[in-house]
Amino acid sequence: MLAAAASPWWSFGAAPLLLVAALGLWDLLQRRHTVLRNYPVLGHARYLLESIRPEMQQYFVERSYDGRPFDRDTRSIVYERAKGTAAEEPFGTERDVYATGYEFLVPSMAPRPVPETPPRVRVGGPDCTRPYGMALLNVSAMSFGSLSANAVLALNGGAAAGGFAQDTGEGGLSEYHLRPGGDLVWEIGTGYFGCRTRDGGFDPGEFAGKAAHDSVKCVSLKLSQGAKPGIGGVLPGSKVNAEIARVRDVPEGRTVVSPPYHRVFSTPRELVRFLARMRELSGGKPTGFKICPGSRRQFLAVCKAMLDEGTAPDFIVVDGGEGGTGAAPLEFADHLGTPLTEGLLTVHNALVGTGLRDRVRIGASGKIATGADLVKRLVQGADYGNAARAMMFAVGCIQAQRCHTNTCPTGVTTQDPRRARALHVGDKTERVRRLQEATVAGALQIMASMGVTDPAQLRPHMLRRRTDPYTVRSYDELYEWLEPGRLLDEPPADWAADWKAADPDRFTV
Ligand SMILES: Cc1cc2nc3c(=O)[nH]c(=O)nc-3n(C[C@H](O)[C@H](O)[C@H](O)COP(=O)(O)O)c2cc1C
Repeated sequence: MLAAAASPWWSFGAAPLLLVAALGLWDLLQRRHTVLRNYPVLGHARYLLESIRPEMQQYFVERSYDGRPFDRDTRSIVYERAKGTAAEEPFGTERDVYATGYEFLVPSMAPRPVPETPPRVRVGGPDCTRPYGMALLNVSAMSFGSLSANAVLALNGGAAAGGFAQDTGEGGLSEYHLRPGGDLVWEIGTGYFGCRTRDGGFDPGEFAGKAAHDSVKCVSLKLSQGAKPGIGGVLPGSKVNAEIARVRDVPEGRTVVSPPYHRVFSTPRELVRFLARMRELSGGKPTGFKICPGSRRQFLAVCKAMLDEGTAPDFIVVDGGEGGTGAAPLEFADHLGTPLTEGLLTVHNALVGTGLRDRVRIGASGKIATGADLVKRLVQGADYGNAARAMMFAVGCIQAQRCHTNTCPTGVTTQDPRRARALHVGDKTERVRRLQEATVAGALQIMASMGVTDPAQLRPHMLRRRTDPYTVRSYDELYEWLEPGRLLDEPPADWAADWKAADPDRFTV
């Protein structure tokens, strides 16, 4: 305007401004980069820095650690797989293979061909009438409420396209979980959201009605999660809009507190009975629970209750202390809960030792982001894996760690429609599908190099750990692996006290 009104010389200033305006418009309209949709023009600085990262890192930053839960190398693999741009890397490993704690999988002198179709895990014990074929990697529990509607839609769309399952998280079953048609594990927590009586109890009628939905393939009772075992969530009133209130069966605008413990059971036996009731109410669908294990004695008490009652869950998801959350006190995230390795070994061994392992499948969650992560967890006793944060990366998360503030810069964990709009559902759906497919393909390729064509052939000696600068030990040597039924026959010395004290009618401390 100044160029027209005052002097043509102003055109020199106008040209760059017009270019910036055009770039901004382009950024707002494109669908690929959520950061640019929310931060037009300015967001390019992030991509510029990212492009010169390897060089900068070499000089200024300690390799592969940036003080955030997932290191940069892992994030890069996940982003590239999700975008479909994964390429092979030159020059060799960037890990310190002589560091104490370094773990590696053991290759075979006779590698096998990679199976053409990924195996599925049959979930459903003898009491289940509608078993489900679970994929090797699935979307871990994350609620609508902690995630935006667009994020839930993209995750479920990816699950539908790729033939895997999405866990709803404990925030209820929403239309965003149902619309794309992906398989669901419907999770309920201590708040019983979505099947809740007015005073916060469990409503069996509502549960049965929703569990009957075709997309719901399994139902799950959340006992605890690794990032905050033993505390219930708090959803601030400001986030409880009409839609969330409806999905969760809670009053709009009022803060919702999930209690730390369940009302539906207070002893191991009652837990086992309640799981059987959930299965019955769901019409025989696979029923399980999610736990970040703590006391081995308490878990053994639950196994004793299963034996006594003659019924068992169809699956148990073990969440590691390293697990993620939308919001938790840092002390809890950092200091409470058994890490996934020990948690898996406890649950696997307890089920093997009590002869229950054949009827109970074990899922694992805790920083599973690559094929190698998945294979390690399968060696440690899991049958399948779930990923939460890696899937968040696929829908655009940049690990800004603002999930609890409603100001997520990429629209993943916010209920602010302006921010959530940045997440383009179609583009991110495809990324979720690609990430799952490439991660499972990576795991299968690794297993083939280990001489294994089916996860059931994996053995503890195939995973090794450097325990000091001079020693490497296999999982076979490092940990105890119980024989089937051993706890029933003659418990080994270091299990005997816990086994004896485990009481199916009391959670002893
Ligand atoms: C944003 C967010 C929300 C979550 N919400 C739930 C939930 O509702 N229920 C649950 O059982 N776990 C929840 N989790 C935990 C994850 O399901 C998962 O167990 C944990 O993050 C470990 O997996 P990861 O390391 O792949 O993230 C949540 C995690 C995140 C990051």
